[in-house]
Formats: sequence, C-alpha cells, structure tokens
Amino acid sequence: MDKFVINGGKALKGEVRISGAKNAAVAILPAAMLADSPCVIENVPEISDVTAILRAMQCLGAEIRYINRSTVQIDPTHINSFIVSKEMADGMRASSYFLGALLGRMHRAKVAPPGGCNLGVRPIDQHIKGFEALGAEMSIENGMVEGKAPILRGASIYLDVVSVGATINIMLAAVKAKGLTVIENAAREPHIVDLANFLNSMGANIMGAGTNVIKVRGVDSLFGATYSIIPDQIEAGTYMAAAVATGGDVLLTNVTPKHLESITAKLREIGADITEYDEAVHVVMNRRPKKCNVKTFPHPGFPTDMQPQIATVLTIADGTSIVTEGVWDSRFRYAEQLILMGADIQVDGKMAVITGVEAINPAPVKAVDLRAGAAMIIAGLMAKGTTEIDNIDHIDRGYENIVEKFSALGADIKRIPKIEGRVVFKRA
Ligand code: EPZ
Repeated sequence: MDKFVINGGKALKGEVRISGAKNAAVAILPAAMLADSPCVIENVPEISDVTAILRAMQCLGAEIRYINRSTVQIDPTHINSFIVSKEMADGMRASSYFLGALLGRMHRAKVAPPGGCNLGVRPIDQHIKGFEALGAEMSIENGMVEGKAPILRGASIYLDVVSVGATINIMLAAVKAKGLTVIENAAREPHIVDLANFLNSMGANIMGAGTNVIKVRGVDSLFGATYSIIPDQIEAGTYMAAAVATGGDVLLTNVTPKHLESITAKLREIGADITEYDEAVHVVMNRRPKKCNVKTFPHPGFPTDMQPQIATVLTIADGTSIVTEGVWDSRFRYAEQLILMGADIQVDGKMAVITGVEAINPAPVKAVDLRAGAAMIIAGLMAKGTTEIDNIDHIDRGYENIVEKFSALGADIKRIPKIEGRVVFKRA
C-alpha cells in the first residue's frame, strides 16, 4: 500500500479549489439509473469511491463515458442486471444506494451489504423498513440483501433514527412509486437536498428536502438531465481545519459557505478569523488554538465527518476540550494514532477528553478510516519533522488530488508508492 510522507511544521498559505461532494456523488450517480435517457453529471470528484460506483453501474449495463475529468455521461438505457455482487460492492458504503435505485428502475435488487469505513455497527434496518413500507419484499440470503417489488406504492415512513442513507434510499425507491411518500424524521444534509434537486431536474416531484419531512409524489418516468454536484462540505472543512491547525492563511474556492456554518462557528471559537464570500471562505489563524467543546449531530449540527479533524486541531489547544460523538458508536479509533504523536487524549465511549499540549511530534501512523486519515494528514502538517501515514487507500476514497492540493498550499507532502515485485539486494 502507498504511504504519505509529510515534513510538517509549515503554515499553509494560498488558495485551494474544493471538489464536488463525495456523499452527494455516491447518491446522484446511482440515481441516474432511474432515467430513461442519458444524464450528464458535472463536478464529479475524482476519488476511488466514485470509481467503484461507476464500475458497478457499468457491470449492471450502464454506459459510462467521461466527457472531461469531472464530467460523466451515464446512459442507463441498457441496464439489464439487478445484482451488485460482493466484488462490485466491496469497500463502498454507498453500495446500499443500489437497492433504492434498482428497486425504482427494475423492481428488483440483490446487493451485497455495504463496506466503507468501520465506524462501529452500520445497520440498514431503516432502509429495509422504508422499502417494505413501499411494498417491497425484502430478505437477506447468502450475505446478499434482496428486494422484490412488482409495484411500489407511496407510504408514510417515520425514521426511528435520522439516517442519511435511509432518507436517500427511500427517495430513490419512491420517486417512481405510485402515489405520495412522506418521509418523517428525514435527514437534512446538503447532499440530500442535492439529490432531490437532481431528481427534480429529471422530472421527479420531491418537496421538503432540507427539512425533516420530505414528500415524494411518484411519477411514471424520469428523463435524463445535466446536473452539477455541490461542493464537498467535508473536504472544505478539512482544509479549513488544516489551515487553523498550522496557523495558516488559506482561501477556499468553489464552496457553499452556508453548508460550512457549523464548522466555521467552531473554528471561530477556536480563534480563527474566517471571512465568507459568495462561493469562497478565507481562513486566517495567527494564534494558538483555544480549547473548545464539540458535539456531533446530524445536519445542521456539527458533522461527524469533521470530528477527527477538529479533534486533531484541539490536541494543541490552550486548555482541555471535550469532543462528543453523537452519530456513530465508534469514531475515536484514530485517537491512539494521535497519542503516538504525543497528544493527550482520553476516550471514554462516545466522549474524548483532549488536554492540549504545546506541540505534537512526528511518528509513523496509519489512517484507520477516511476522515481519520484526513486527521492524520493534519497532524502530520502540525508536527515539526517527518510523519509517515500508512493505509492511505482510505483517504483516496474521499479526497481528490490531496497531495497536489496540500502541496499548492506549501505543504511538504509526498505519496511514496508501494514497491511491487521482488526485493533486489545490492552486491557488497
Ligand atoms: C452517511 O453514512 C455518510 N456516508 C457518512 O460519511 C456520514 O458519517 C453519515 O452519513 C452521517 O452523516 C455517505 O453518505 C456515503 P446514517 P450513512 O445512515 O448514510 C444509524 C464519510 O466519512 N442507522 O446517517 O451510512 C447508524 O448506525 C462517511 O464520508 C441505523 O440505526 O449514515 C448511525 O448511528 C462515513 N439504522 C446513524 O444512524 C439504519 O438503517 C447515522 O447513520 C441506518 C443508520
């Protein structure tokens, strides 16, 4: 596996352009399978989760053509399979979206369970409950989740937990169902609104996305559309946190400041000066971070996907901070990596107590999951000296051109490719 090697201790300075949102792309791309004609999706991030989704769609019979680096044309007219095998689904959490999209298109779906980050138990009971309410017969056999629904009918569905995945999946299955579907206690993340906007641009009738009650009135068919994915809230937040962590001065472009509000508020509390423009934010930090308590919540709360990155900033804060995880059972596995670098963190269940130290030190560490990997990069940029980060496949799942983007901000970061093949020893 490749490694990142970072020579840290330099303040980040310059401008970075944020890519399209991973968590919107992994919903919007399968959603294109619901159309009766080709879709063109713009601002698609070049990340391995997107490659995995597109490869799976191709295996189902969709024709995929890159028009340029970030624009993909998807022709779903020849989709002839409803099976997403374990090999096709391996490593991607968003494989579950094939359930909703294929039930909507083919009235049948057989999909291997989702992979992705290990954040504790990742159930899909709310997705299944939603499909069943719409009239699908769901089963799990030989490790595959299967759904059959000769007719999908609109229904009223109350989610027991606010789930991004279940909200998206139910929307995907409901857009072509007969009648009205009401999703209550729905998730409100920006990528839910983005998916609804995309589906509406294809002729769907979805109201209320972005609130906790979403109404989907089924339509007979959807047509292909051209659509541009929103900027990635978490990629932006990661660069903002990195700017703060290194005492930097960074302008982020192609962002939606409204989507960054909870992150901006916390970073301001930590001591950053942040100026918002229409599609940019400017982050300047010229002091030691102040302590700050953070609790993650579904949107519009502070995003769980930014928890490891902000916790990393707080390792060098002046004082003790408490970080509480309010979404996942287990999202502090990265803490032991930061402890290897000299951070003072005590984790107790869903809470981490972080006592700020003057500085953290370089060490060989690993990315235990995607956002934990981003946190390791921030830590490596903070620590004076050379930090090596292993297991970086996780980071490739969600960050486009991360080496190039950080290098352009003045960071000394390199990808060291794994040496393949035989080891050759030099002669004495
Ligand atoms: C999405 O995961 C994101 N992934 C995650 O981002 C993100 O952490 C998460 O939402 C929360 O914001 C994608 O969009 C691809 P959930 P998802 O269903 O949909 C419980 C990243 O780093 N739950 O909102 O899988 C679940 O256990 C990734 O980019 C049920 O109990 O998350 C969790 O505690 C990591 N039953 C909570 O709900 C269900 O059926 C929220 O999960 C579904 C979920």
